[in-house]
Amino acid sequence: MAHPSPTPAPATPAPLTNVNFKHVAALLMREAAITLEAGKEYLVETRLAPLAVKHGVGSVNELIDRLRASEPALTDLHLEVVDALTTNETLFFRDVHPWDALRKHVIPKLREARASTRTITVWSAACSTGQEPYSLAMLLAEHFPDLAGWSIRIIGTDISPTVLRKAQAGVFQQLEVNRGLPALYLVKHFRQEGRNWILADAIRRRVEFRALNLARHWTGVPRCDLVFMRNVMIYFDVETRRSILRQLRHVLAPDGYLLLGTAETAINLDNAFGAVTFDRATFFQPSR
Ligand SMILES: C[S@@+](CC[C@H](N)C(=O)[O-])C[C@H]1O[C@@H](n2cnc3c(N)ncnc32)[C@H](O)[C@@H]1O
Repeated sequence: MAHPSPTPAPATPAPLTNVNFKHVAALLMREAAITLEAGKEYLVETRLAPLAVKHGVGSVNELIDRLRASEPALTDLHLEVVDALTTNETLFFRDVHPWDALRKHVIPKLREARASTRTITVWSAACSTGQEPYSLAMLLAEHFPDLAGWSIRIIGTDISPTVLRKAQAGVFQQLEVNRGLPALYLVKHFRQEGRNWILADAIRRRVEFRALNLARHWTGVPRCDLVFMRNVMIYFDVETRRSILRQLRHVLAPDGYLLLGTAETAINLDNAFGAVTFDRATFFQPSR
């Protein structure tokens, strides 16, 4: 009896070509100033594979061929590729120590310095899915009820429209609320709906989100008393970091505070900033 011929396994797409990898790396540098070194081919393949499926092409190589065919135009697909290649890792109250320092030192100092205007403006630059600005909004609600009558503006920006949509929605998965969020805050400021945790409107409405590319000229950024620019400089080359700090000089109040990621520093990049350490957290301030 003849055996039925086995169903052929789906063809594995050819690995990302070097030309296509370099093409995507150049796009990412041009549009977001993000450096993508050789060796990160796997990252491009895994992050762009869902986009290839979405656009009905058989492989990441074909997706990039499609991009190239439409150039020099910058299409929506180009922007989707840039969006998909951003790294959006974040968590509530990331690194703990800066939040202790904010609660014990920085916010009390700002409260004193701004007593006459009763206005504080905070910018979470590269806020990803919102955990950073929402952590601040919760910290203020919990520890600084006396600021309730003040004008406190918290702005969250990012280059990625996908993370901004999620931030704006204020809906988090179990895994996300398990990371860094104290149980007290979870109980107080979230309600559970199925597998999701929904942030209370009272906190969600305290943060305004919008798109902003740090590597371009910034428009519409007000004078800030506190800037979070955490875990984003690491993706940029030294020249981009310098130009970002140059723009920041015009945005940060002379007695304002800049908070970078724990692996990041402004020292040796721009001598307009000096370091100030509170307990175990370092902030940067315009040098006097
Ligand atoms: C690793 S996350 C850091 C999130 C948060 N600040 C934290 O420390 O938890 C880096 C974020 O930077 C954003 N990003 C990358 N390049 C950017 C650019 N050129 N302009 C603005 N945001 C950018 C990414 O989209 C991503 O959401």
